[in-house]
Amino acid sequence: MKISVVGTGYVGLVSGTCFSQTGIDVVCVDVDERKINMLNNGQIPIYEPGLEDIFKYNVEKGRLSFTTNLKDSLADSEAVFIAVGTPPDEDGSADLKYVLGVAREIGRHMNHYMVIVTKSTVPVGTSMKVKAAILDELAKRGENIPFDVASNPEFLKEGSAVDDFLKPDRIVVGIESPEAEKTMRKLYKAFLLNGHPILFMDISSSEMTKYAANSMLATKISFMNDIANLCELVGADVSQVRKGIGSDARIGNKFIYPGTGYGGSCFPKDVQALVRTADDYGHSLDILKAVEAVNYRQKEVLIKKIKSHFGVNLEGLKFGMWGLAFKPKTDDMREAPSLVIIEKLLQEGASIVAFDPVAQEEAHRILGDSIVYAKDEYDACIDVDALIIVTEWPEFRMPNFRVIEKLLKSKTIFDGRNIYEPEEMQEIKFNYYSIGRKS
Ligand code: UGA
Repeated sequence: MKISVVGTGYVGLVSGTCFSQTGIDVVCVDVDERKINMLNNGQIPIYEPGLEDIFKYNVEKGRLSFTTNLKDSLADSEAVFIAVGTPPDEDGSADLKYVLGVAREIGRHMNHYMVIVTKSTVPVGTSMKVKAAILDELAKRGENIPFDVASNPEFLKEGSAVDDFLKPDRIVVGIESPEAEKTMRKLYKAFLLNGHPILFMDISSSEMTKYAANSMLATKISFMNDIANLCELVGADVSQVRKGIGSDARIGNKFIYPGTGYGGSCFPKDVQALVRTADDYGHSLDILKAVEAVNYRQKEVLIKKIKSHFGVNLEGLKFGMWGLAFKPKTDDMREAPSLVIIEKLLQEGASIVAFDPVAQEEAHRILGDSIVYAKDEYDACIDVDALIIVTEWPEFRMPNFRVIEKLLKSKTIFDGRNIYEPEEMQEIKFNYYSIGRKS
């Protein structure tokens, strides 16, 4: 079986590479010549654990290739995945110009039956717009080539994307014809044989599933952040409360970790887009509006704690920062809480020396030389007034506090991820501030 995947961003590259791992011939297409050249030279533009190995393996096997030529890639393809970006436009709605642009190009060049599958996160109704765009292009050519559209949202998480793709909890597919179901079953045969469930449904429900899943997860996080803030006020410990509620299987123990607010390219964008879609239909998604507001506020919680420790004037203070990426195991800085914290501290006249195991290059692209980049976590502690922990990289969990206390000007840590135990920090006489716990 052969397929094309259009868009070699995060979702497209991971999906294409993982499909090739199941024995399918995959041609990945992108308009960005520089990116395609990189990929053809064996360089992967994103950091994702495990991706490089299967990328190299399948390129060597001849099952995975890269091109800028969409037209050629369509020859013999039984399915084409659209996995291009849907950035938010000014009002927060998902901008569909790339998705529909690809649909039109497919319509201009296809010459046999195929299933055009939308994998990008798109608002309800988009697959029908994809269909209309293709029909329009076929009509311009005076052709009547049969095709189907399908929706197949992606649930992978950055940092564990390969595993999430290859071992999915479920595969959601929206279809409107038996032919499309047949093609999608063939495509996911290896997953079905391995016992991963595939849920077929109508296209609108499939599109909605993606937004509802991300919005529910974002809601869990904002809810816990709000509870954490209240825990501090009433003298409760959110870690205990988290365990207490998470052991109820109906609630579950995942995605209830409080922190500095959710970030990344998905939750903020998708929550905003769903709110917009609902508004367009005259329905106010009040819970999600509150989820957004709580998340915005949460990104500033550490600043509040810093100010109450040092006094309102932070002018001239120097802070060490551990972690810049929006979460561990990625170099992604999109909507990272670190950006808000850094902006506020710089505005207040403080300076920052930061360390992140993989995101420093990406951070430098965004922040330039407004902060100093340390060579390791201890380097970020030299002569600073306090240490701020923003991303819970595993290597930060068991540091040598004896070394740290000698480097810091004052033994003070603001932990936005609750990675240490308050009692242990008290024993070694650190001023320790965390989220929703007694410090
Ligand atoms: C998210 C979803 O988890 C994926 O299922 C989905 O496919 C993806 O978006 C997408 O739409 O493409 P991702 O953005 O990679 O994946 O990151 P998550 O691991 O979900 O984390 C999102 C944010 O929530 C991070 O900032 C993380 O620190 C925060 N978070 C997560 C918490 O603050 N607390 C938690 O308990 C869990």
